[in-house]
Amino acid sequence: MNYETLLYDVRAGIAYVTLNRPQKLNALNRKTLQELAACFEGIRHDSEVKGVILTGAGEKAFAAGADINELAALNPIEARATALRGQALMNAIESLGKPVIAAVNGFALGGGCELAMACTLRIASDNARFGQPEVKLGIIPGYAGTQRLPRLVGKGRAFELILTGEAISAQEAWRIGLVNQVVSPPDLIKAAETMLRRILSNAPVAVCYALEAINRGVEMPQGDAEALEASLFGLSCATADMKEGTRAFLEKRPPQFKGE
Ligand code: COA
Repeated sequence: MNYETLLYDVRAGIAYVTLNRPQKLNALNRKTLQELAACFEGIRHDSEVKGVILTGAGEKAFAAGADINELAALNPIEARATALRGQALMNAIESLGKPVIAAVNGFALGGGCELAMACTLRIASDNARFGQPEVKLGIIPGYAGTQRLPRLVGKGRAFELILTGEAISAQEAWRIGLVNQVVSPPDLIKAAETMLRRILSNAPVAVCYALEAINRGVEMPQGDAEALEASLFGLSCATADMKEGTRAFLEKRPPQFKGE
């Protein structure tokens, strides 16, 4: 697949999606959002792709937010449509059914932070900075930052980040649970690959159901979420991989999962 604003590559079951407007700090313009939506839709249906690493080109930024040039020219109707399109993209990434690791290599601000939060896990280089600076521009986060941030770090810290608009370091983001791991910049992609391989070594259907149980479950009343969990648990027990996983444990050997 060829894109104007993205680089795309698949190697050994991993799709590498790279935001590629480094001269604009990978700011998310309309074209980038369209291409990301098309790219992740392709990934959803590509059985060769087992997991995704999403990163930014260049050494400075993962993504420095929505494109402020475009933003400045929006009327309220267009702005609402833009927020809805952005939210739909974030939801599509979150509910991809395959693990997506954000390899955050620099600024993850505004829409960039929201994009990272839509991913399953976040690994950051130690020069990364996270923030939701929208209030400094007279707006609020519009790609579900007001919803995903409190779910990840709690309401108090989400208020602090969104209301001050101030960015925090990778280390602070790790401390509050916004990122899973912090590494030095040259180690970033390798660390993302290692994490993804650890996940992909497990039973694929179980990984997919666990993603669904958490993503859908946190949006439900706990009783309904537990019913969903029980149903998916039951379904996972019908897989050949469940038989293989339990048998391999009892036979003291590594399992050979087939995703069936
Ligand atoms: N939208 C559009 N262009 C952006 C951008 C954005 N969100 N963020 C950065 N850019 C552009 C800059 O305009 C500049 O372009 P130019 O060289 O044509 O002037 C280029 O990217 C480099 O950015 P610059 O500001 O010169 O880099 P810096 O190192 O001095 O500062 C930031 C980096 C991230 C602190 C600063 O770019 C910034 O605050 N960006 C906006 C962040 C933001 O508010 N995001 C939320 C948007 S809702």
